[in-house]
Amino acid sequence: MNRAICPGSFDPVTNGHLDIIARASVLYDEVVVGVLVNESKESLFSVTERQELLRAVTTSYPNVRVDSFRGLLVDYCRAHEISVIIKGLRAVTDFDYELQMAQMNRELGSTETVFLATNPLYSFLSSSLVKEVTRYGGDVSAHVPETVRIALLARLATSP
Ligand code: PNS
Repeated sequence: MNRAICPGSFDPVTNGHLDIIARASVLYDEVVVGVLVNESKESLFSVTERQELLRAVTTSYPNVRVDSFRGLLVDYCRAHEISVIIKGLRAVTDFDYELQMAQMNRELGSTETVFLATNPLYSFLSSSLVKEVTRYGGDVSAHVPETVRIALLARLATSP
């Protein structure tokens, strides 16, 4: 089976992430969306909540499943027989760091990275910006699925 992973923090998932996941699901037999468990990074949503949101917005893709991982991505890939890492590239500013990670992941685990060019509709999008815009009352309905928008409003109403 040709299995790929879309790794990330997904705090929360945006339409940009979803576009990459959907396109990866056409290219590979199975796509795992891997949420990184990173205790040293403060997040708005817990890993469980982020996985629930991802599951809710990927139900129409039968070959996509959501999981979480700790530690090195290449170790998770090896343990789950995943040969390809999928990353979206929004702009050249993403490229330097993504290239470094791709080369390190290949060195560490012979895992190939495939870059998908982000849909220009989403090239300015990030989870951080979506949180900031929502926090200050802006409308993110074009940038995240409705389930995520509602979850953002609810969370930011209680922890601004
Ligand atoms: O959404 P993000 O925060 O940009 O995702 C970054 C992520 C999770 C893909 C990256 O930090 C990662 O793979 N972390 C796992 C730890 C690891 O393998 N580090 C070495 C990367 S070369």
